[in-house]
Amino acid sequence: MPILVVPSTAVHRGFLAAWDEAGPQEERWMGARSVAGPEEEWTRQQAADPAEFARMVEVIRTEAEPETELPAGIVHQTVLWFVDGVEWLGRLSIRHDLTAALTEVGGHIGYYVRPSARRRGYATQMLTQSLPIAAALGIDPALVTCDTGNVASRKVIEAAGGELEDERHGKLRFWVPTELR
Ligand SMILES: CC(C)(COP(=O)(O)OP(=O)(O)OC[C@H]1O[C@@H](n2cnc3c(N)ncnc32)[C@H](O)[C@@H]1OP(=O)(O)O)[C@@H](O)C(=O)NCCC(=O)NCCS
Repeated sequence: MPILVVPSTAVHRGFLAAWDEAGPQEERWMGARSVAGPEEEWTRQQAADPAEFARMVEVIRTEAEPETELPAGIVHQTVLWFVDGVEWLGRLSIRHDLTAALTEVGGHIGYYVRPSARRRGYATQMLTQSLPIAAALGIDPALVTCDTGNVASRKVIEAAGGELEDERHGKLRFWVPTELR
């Protein structure tokens, strides 16, 4: 059964396969751009190199640590990968705080499922599994947004208990309780 895990080099091949599947249209969702700065944006070629991939994984992991210094306006985030053995299925990011931009459009939690793994309930499982982790970070409720026309993402958020607040800048904004009630 697939689970959310802290990024690790164990799924290197699976990560690259998913990147190839994402292609230029979707590769931004793979999370190869560190929030630490534009200089930490990995290319597919770099990610293929085991040493560079290990560095990328390490940088992604440090983004979650409060002592990691980030540029102004950037908040710490916990990135988790959804994996089944060595197969890389998707990615979820939990932003620890809301900036003005995240409050308007981005929200606390974002997620991505690789094209070949869609419509199997994985995004719903990912978001649901992430809620206790968000709660442990002191987030309750979590703001989760989607494009107004993103039917699949809207269903995912509603399945996790999201309550619609409003629409801003073409995004629907939902509040999802993270604590068991
Ligand atoms: C949106 C996304 C995360 C959904 O992932 P997924 O794993 O396919 O979602 P699920 O399998 O959990 O499906 C959730 C629901 O949406 C429905 N759904 C999935 N894809 C759909 C589509 N293309 N059109 C209509 N409904 C769709 C499913 O049938 C399911 O409905 P149900 O709960 O009534 O059974 C995935 O398509 C994706 O990564 N897209 C690109 C990035 C993105 O949009 N991320 C979300 C940003 S807010």
